[in-house]
Amino acid sequence: MTQTYRIAVIGGDGIGPEVTGAALEVVRAAGVAIEDTSYDLGAARFLRDGFVLDDATLEELRGFDAIMLGAVGPAIGDTRIPGGTLERGLLLKMRFGLDLYVNYRPFRGVPGSLAEGCEFAIVRENTEGPYAGEGGQLRRGTPHEIATQGSVNTRFGVERCVRYAFARAESARVPRLTLVHKTNVLTFAGDLWSRVVNEVATEYPNVEVDYHHVDAACIYLVENPQRYSVIVTDNLFGDILSDLAGAVSGGIGYAASANLNPDRTGASLFEPVHGAAHDIVGQNRANPLAAVSSAALMLEHLGEIEAARRVEAVVRGFNADPVVLGTSGIVKTLLESL
Ligand code: IPM
Ligand code: MN
Repeated sequence: MTQTYRIAVIGGDGIGPEVTGAALEVVRAAGVAIEDTSYDLGAARFLRDGFVLDDATLEELRGFDAIMLGAVGPAIGDTRIPGGTLERGLLLKMRFGLDLYVNYRPFRGVPGSLAEGCEFAIVRENTEGPYAGEGGQLRRGTPHEIATQGSVNTRFGVERCVRYAFARAESARVPRLTLVHKTNVLTFAGDLWSRVVNEVATEYPNVEVDYHHVDAACIYLVENPQRYSVIVTDNLFGDILSDLAGAVSGGIGYAASANLNPDRTGASLFEPVHGAAHDIVGQNRANPLAAVSSAALMLEHLGEIEAARRVEAVVRGFNADPVVLGTSGIVKTLLESL
């Protein structure tokens, strides 16, 4: 008997609902049965009634087989929502609350991009580092004000992320894992990350282990991206590096991401890396390829490996001009080649 998966869909703002809608269509066409429940969350919802995400809704989300997210955020220049409201209150609340401790972002350099022909992935720790929110302010607004923002790195948190990265690297085309950090300056956290990588490495004799400082990694990603197979790094370095990786691979319009709880104590969340692009809403101009790629990662996580490979293959094989085809044309092309 085939299984029906219960998926929570947070279309969100701007083009978010258009790209999640497209991704769902492709998933269903790949033969996977989905029962989707939509959650109205994001900037528009907040502006309407002040709701971001409460604990009860978070607990509901935990129980789904997976969560699909389009994009959240107001239009550029709309300053009605204080910074951090949606980032901390919605996105990070889900990452922390559902213990989505890995942010897995695969990249494939499309023709014409700096990374053309390269395939690599970033495994970003997703619940610690500077994102943990350690720190505070004192005497705010006075000449003597203080602001501290610490970086939390636990043995437990680093090790589980590094283990996930080694498992990915072992089955990658090139079995190589590169730790990216700044061990020459961030000596406390860097030492912990290096030791953990070196320890876990003894269990993966087939994986070549490498280390780059984060500033050097920025140069290599642009000039020599074929050096990378799987990168493992902390939350903030991973955030920054994955935007750069997206840019050299053809733009974040193509970049997929999976916020994963590999232990499955909460639903994992799948989202394109791009934003809400309010300027092109409802014009059939949204490019759903990143959302479809994210859906392929979701299928992989659900254990629908064959469907995942097929969806991934049609995205990979897509070689038309997305601008010419528009959203519906892209979906039609994908469906025809499934
Ligand atoms: C990302 C985003 C988020 C992050 C923001 C929106 C909080 O930039 O998913 O990369 O910093 O992680
Ligand atoms: Mn980011």
